Amino acid sequence: MHRPLLALVVAVALASPQPASAQSSPVPARLVLLPDTTGPVISRHIYGHFAEHLGRDIYDGFWVGEGSSIPNVRGIRTDIVEALKAVGVPNLRWPGGCFADDYHWKNGIGPRAERPAVPNRFWGDVLEDNSFGTHEFMDLVDQLGTEAYIAGNLGSGTVREMAEWAEYLTGTQGPMAELRRKNGREEPWPVRFFGVGNENWGCGGNMRAAYYADEFKRYTTYLYEAGRGMYAVASGPSSGYGGHGTDLEWTETLMREAGWLMRGYSLHYYTVTHNWTNKGSATEFDESDWFLTLKKSTWIDSVIVAHSRVMDRFDPQKRVAIVFDEWGTWHDAEPDTPGYALYQQNSLRDALVAGISLNAFNNHADRVRVANLAQTINVLQAMILTEGDRMLKTPTYHAFHLFRRHWDATLVPSRIESPEYVFGDQSMPALTASASRDSLGALHVTVTNADPHRSVALQIPVDRDTVMMQAFVVTADRMQEHNTFDEPDRVTRRSLMAIRREADHAVLTVPAKSVVSFTAILPGRSR
Ligand code: AHR
Repeated sequence: MHRPLLALVVAVALASPQPASAQSSPVPARLVLLPDTTGPVISRHIYGHFAEHLGRDIYDGFWVGEGSSIPNVRGIRTDIVEALKAVGVPNLRWPGGCFADDYHWKNGIGPRAERPAVPNRFWGDVLEDNSFGTHEFMDLVDQLGTEAYIAGNLGSGTVREMAEWAEYLTGTQGPMAELRRKNGREEPWPVRFFGVGNENWGCGGNMRAAYYADEFKRYTTYLYEAGRGMYAVASGPSSGYGGHGTDLEWTETLMREAGWLMRGYSLHYYTVTHNWTNKGSATEFDESDWFLTLKKSTWIDSVIVAHSRVMDRFDPQKRVAIVFDEWGTWHDAEPDTPGYALYQQNSLRDALVAGISLNAFNNHADRVRVANLAQTINVLQAMILTEGDRMLKTPTYHAFHLFRRHWDATLVPSRIESPEYVFGDQSMPALTASASRDSLGALHVTVTNADPHRSVALQIPVDRDTVMMQAFVVTADRMQEHNTFDEPDRVTRRSLMAIRREADHAVLTVPAKSVVSFTAILPGRSR
């Protein structure tokens, strides 16, 4: 006997339309929660974002300037801040990327009219007038209610410059703390995450691993002296865009030579549909591109596994976190936009990539403790796109919303028994999933279904005294569906009514081509 389900009523008007293929005979699947294993806490910082001085991410993105007719608070766009606060941003990485190793922070402090304009060498030589600098970024951090993740310049800076930035940000005494006060900020800022270089195998100086390991130690020694309590992140290897050729030797060298001085170790992984010279359109693609993109996005899991294995040899206690501080899709730039600005649309396919990647991070929460989607506004797999005073939330934004309840919950290790998604002579598991339990005992499960034709009837074990089950979905009739400035809600998050209770499990119908969240709540513990 099981208790009747007391409540599963969310406005029917909000219920998601089920594609015809999903209505006919869903394929059975099962989520197995592994008994007697308590997982690690899923760090909320897995859900972080990244904003680089690139294209329209900062300028004409976050930053419109105080004189703009677009509503803003001290130059920072209000509608963007409100939208991001609604989904939650635990940390924000800035100012790059490749830009970070060419950024000299003193150019971005003091009266704006006196700041020098310098070409942004990595991104189109666009003139960077430095009007958005340290104070503006920390104001953005305050407005978002997030934590700063500063990426320091090791490639073209100096040890002293990086240590001085740490003192400027976090010091209570010393010349840089005084300079900060002179520039109007009395109290230090609570900055914790600090990247010691970025992609130093490439745009961050084309270094060898052994050389970078020595440089990392030199910079980090003085960074720790200047910024007490810093969480220093070492630059990781090339992950071979698209998953091929991830450099394990870099990880081995860094962990052996410098692991003891790190708190975090950075990995990057971009999902590129074809290859670097023909990445493919963000919205004009067929099922073959859909399949290839989603299959490649699942390889992020094997990148984590491969590097974790190396890290385990030097750090079996998992003291050093993987900081996945750049990940996401990289498509061709939209027609009529400059290639260097990396402006791409964002479809349901991108939402699936987000769901697949976030499930992988959750499932490796013992090692992956920080991650940053690239990038927040108008660049690569953005959360938000803007055009003049208009903005839209992308399908990726809505996918992130579905994962909100995993923040700081305890991972429930699980295994998904998934049907195969077969395309031509290739196949991949249709489903990925992760599960967690929050401090009130509620079970949260997130699922992706890559199969664009078949829905799945997924069995999920639930507690006998579950009183309420809820599910939400991001899906659409077409796999290419995306939001436009005229129709910003074509792809959004909707309630999913297709849940039923059977004995000790729930049966959740996961629509074809969807990202779904499911929650089972215990008596008196609603949230
Ligand atoms: O996110 C765009 C670029 O990709 C970053 O600047 C760099 O770190 C990476 O190669």
